[in-house]
Amino acid sequence: MAVRTPGDYYVSDVYSEPVKLANAKLQLVNSSPDPPAIADESSIDGVPIVSTNPPNIAIKTSNCVCDKSESQQPLERQRTIDTLQSTFVPNKPLFNDDVIIFLITPTYTRPTQMPDMTRLGQTLRLVPNVFWIVVEDAHNQSKAVENLLRRTMIPYVHLLGPRPPTHMDQRSGRGVSNRLKAFEWLRANYGGTNQKGVIYFADDDNAYDVRLFDEMRDTQIVSMFPVGLISTLGLSTPIVNHKTGKIIGFHDPFIGRRKFAVDMAGFAVNLQFFLQSKKATMPYKVGYEEDYFLKSLDVKIWQLEPKAKNCTEVLVWHTKTKPGDKPNHNMMIKVTNYNETNLPSLYQNVMET
Ligand SMILES: *[C@@H]1O[C@H](CO)[C@@H](O)[C@H](O)[C@H]1NC(C)=O
Repeated sequence: MAVRTPGDYYVSDVYSEPVKLANAKLQLVNSSPDPPAIADESSIDGVPIVSTNPPNIAIKTSNCVCDKSESQQPLERQRTIDTLQSTFVPNKPLFNDDVIIFLITPTYTRPTQMPDMTRLGQTLRLVPNVFWIVVEDAHNQSKAVENLLRRTMIPYVHLLGPRPPTHMDQRSGRGVSNRLKAFEWLRANYGGTNQKGVIYFADDDNAYDVRLFDEMRDTQIVSMFPVGLISTLGLSTPIVNHKTGKIIGFHDPFIGRRKFAVDMAGFAVNLQFFLQSKKATMPYKVGYEEDYFLKSLDVKIWQLEPKAKNCTEVLVWHTKTKPGDKPNHNMMIKVTNYNETNLPSLYQNVMET
């Protein structure tokens, strides 16, 4: 790429559609000389947009969005992404001519949820044409998660997929009810359409190199790639034959009775292939979720597509955020004039999550 504009430097070299970014940017720059503050609902050239920017962010000049409450810093790059990603309605499916990456993220309320979700959300901000399916293991939507989703401006749906009472035991594991809910939503909204897409399970606590999404975008059936930091081997990866470039087995600390010994973060599935596999499902069975899911898709080993340079690169890591000591809230009342300080509202914000 010869000339890089501020709007496209976050797209890695392999991604080949920077043109859209440029167009999206132009639309805003060419809008009226004194454009109105970004409202809740508006339209650009007849395309309805819903913006969830806080009301104090306004377009100051034709090429600068400034946060008036701050130091009038230009948010050029952010504006470009906002423009690109704001042509969606929250909680509604997204349709376009390109391949959409559908990220299924199960989540649940815990002290590390906000740092984890913030980091993931801000990673996804760097990826074009994604749709984020966030499913909480809860009966009520978390306000903090809802606010985060609105802020990040990533097209999303916010769902609830609580664990059924019959599967609260350790052997059932977390995340299955959430993912099953996401399957349901995908089938209900994309079944019978020809939207091009790829499904990926993006847990909220892993670490992702944005190049991973470029790699998986052309998944025809099921693609696979290495995952770093998996228990005793520090790794989980398909084994690829150098000569043929085909996947011939799996290298993973836990093989067990698994045909596909892969981590949840180690593969992506073509959306239409998933939709056509009517029996595709995931079991409540710790350690076997990936294997059963791939078996239920009826994919053959020879059909698997190795990514990340024939599985020689690690672009995703199975990281875990370790919570600190449980805070002792009796400590807070020792502060002099507690009620006249920032502490009550800060604690209230912390407790909310
Ligand atoms: C993967 O390996 C095959 C077989 O050797 C080769 O043809 C292909 O170019 C390799 N792909 C990459 C991206 O290195």
